[in-house]
Amino acid sequence: MPSHTPRFDINNEDPRTNFSDNRSFADVLNVNMSRRRFLQGSAATAATMFLAACTTPSRSVLAPQKPGLAFNAVSTSVADAVRVPAGYRAQAFLPWGTPLTNTEAAWQGDGSDSATAQAQQIGAHHDGMHFFPIDARTTAQNSEEGLLVMNHEYVDPAFLHPNGPNAAPRPLEQVAKEIAAHGVSVAHIRKSAGQWQLVADSAYNRRITGSTPMRLAGPAAGHEKMQTLYSPDGTRARGTLNNCAHGVTPWGTYLTCEENWARCFVNRDEHNREQTRYGVASEHGRYYWETATPSADEYQRFDVTPRGANPHEDYRNEANTYGWIVEIDPFDASSTPIKHTMLGRFAHEGIIFAEAIEGEPLVAYSGDDSRFEYIYKFVSAQPYHRATAGSHLLETGTLYVARFNDDGSGEWLPLDINDPIFQRRATAANVQFSDQGDVLLNTRLAADIVGATPMDRPEWGAVHPQTGEVYFTLTNNTRRSAEQVDAANPRAENYAGHIIRWRERSDETFAWDLFLLAGSPGTYTRDTAITLTDDNHHACPDGLWFDSSGLLWIQTDMSGAIQGGETYGNNAMLVADPDRGIVKRFLTGPVGSEITGVVTTPDRRTMFINVQHPGEGSTPESASSHWPDGGNSRPRSATVIIEREDGGIIGT
Ligand code: FEO
Ligand code: CA
Ligand code: CA
Ligand code: CA
Repeated sequence: MPSHTPRFDINNEDPRTNFSDNRSFADVLNVNMSRRRFLQGSAATAATMFLAACTTPSRSVLAPQKPGLAFNAVSTSVADAVRVPAGYRAQAFLPWGTPLTNTEAAWQGDGSDSATAQAQQIGAHHDGMHFFPIDARTTAQNSEEGLLVMNHEYVDPAFLHPNGPNAAPRPLEQVAKEIAAHGVSVAHIRKSAGQWQLVADSAYNRRITGSTPMRLAGPAAGHEKMQTLYSPDGTRARGTLNNCAHGVTPWGTYLTCEENWARCFVNRDEHNREQTRYGVASEHGRYYWETATPSADEYQRFDVTPRGANPHEDYRNEANTYGWIVEIDPFDASSTPIKHTMLGRFAHEGIIFAEAIEGEPLVAYSGDDSRFEYIYKFVSAQPYHRATAGSHLLETGTLYVARFNDDGSGEWLPLDINDPIFQRRATAANVQFSDQGDVLLNTRLAADIVGATPMDRPEWGAVHPQTGEVYFTLTNNTRRSAEQVDAANPRAENYAGHIIRWRERSDETFAWDLFLLAGSPGTYTRDTAITLTDDNHHACPDGLWFDSSGLLWIQTDMSGAIQGGETYGNNAMLVADPDRGIVKRFLTGPVGSEITGVVTTPDRRTMFINVQHPGEGSTPESASSHWPDGGNSRPRSATVIIEREDGGIIGT
């Protein structure tokens, strides 16, 4: 079958589906104005910025001193290797195929591992990741033992099977393996004799895949549009797919976010509004899973064409059970993951919480990573109390969408069926929602009608640990025309991306500015100290994370011609000190890979990052990468452990 190997479209992006023109009435571009607005009420020091931001006594008023970034920047690289600054070392860890829940499920190296083995091994295409110290629920200080929890975003069938994928109809064994390589891994790890190791046979080790049973929670749970042959009452679903970035709740659970799921499903009939606005396929699913042979219910569900007399007899609603954020308790391997419908339905990149404040509502942000899509904020209905905090806080509340005005002000627009302004806008747009569950199932449409600002592909968010400011990457949008430019998305054909940030002013207003425009050396972000040089130029910021000292780690996901090219080299990770306006390149990745996922142990002496899809676009016969195993091996996604040779703190 190699000669008949289909070249699947595995670029793992969903098509643009937002053709509303929310900004056709955009104001005059005025970036200077937005900068002034952002700086109003703040001054040069973190301390006064804190006071102006009117936050709470639980935050430290003075930012800790950040000696630093005292390493020599890494230069751009096209090497098939992970490069880190002098004085640091980097080592691959837990690559795709590592036996996780069954030590017998050894990696075969030639793609011949069975579907059953894959379901017991680390999945493919590592992405968002968190380290939960083993004492996460008490002191959260352990830096030598914990649970490393990571997403497996997608698969490359060319490398997953011995001779690539068979053409449709697909053999059931291949389909089962592809679904088993998606999802999440929970890995119990421990440092002993200076080496991080997987704790084999730990009861914490767990794989969650594209077929793991889950329950639905929030306003869309039990909705008639969620009812399927598998769950006639619409309260249960199977699997999580295309898990990109993640979040961590204040009570120590892991959130995994479903991003480019829409084209896993096909409807050969007329699409309803949910399927149109999210981009469900009309000819075949991304991997033709619906054609699995011999046929089985578990794979037929990817064909959402209506067949039966009602939703209880077919899978017309199956795609509606995707596009959510899923909560996983990593400390209970028997727990059932929860799909939280209150957090909205879209191509979720990740979710980031503002600092949880005793007695106040919980606040979290999530981006919809598709061209011209939006940034959202969730505010819980119930106040946060540390002693009782849990999953229930994510089940009721208000979902808002962001409007970035050109003068540097911003508004959070509620997507709430009981809100009179929302009702008026829905009526004006001639759009009907039956209830709040219907609003959430159609989150994008609800955001369209209230006039949200279409962004240049919102990816990760990060909250500054001292100032509370929220930073978001906007990775690129080459389809933005000169007429569509606005102050928050100021470049036409934006191939390089940028980072926006805002400070909350009230529940429903904020002030924003641009933190950093990515691009080639010489790229200047107006009114900042940052002009990019050979030491820090980069394109397509994606992963974003503040460490506890306030250093901002920025990871890139270039694709196409610029990846591996002369100007930018391979994808990279940079680190910024926003308070001082310093940015330095810290790491470069192997050929064809993206750098994503970043976290440290509490002592900041071990950093974990992920290398996703080394060798992307090539095949085993002529692989462009052999990372991490070298020789003639198949490339595989893996975590990388970064430490300082002197045992010091990473990044200082
Ligand atoms: Fe999966 Fe938006 O990156
Ligand atoms: Ca990403
Ligand atoms: Ca990306
Ligand atoms: Ca990628």
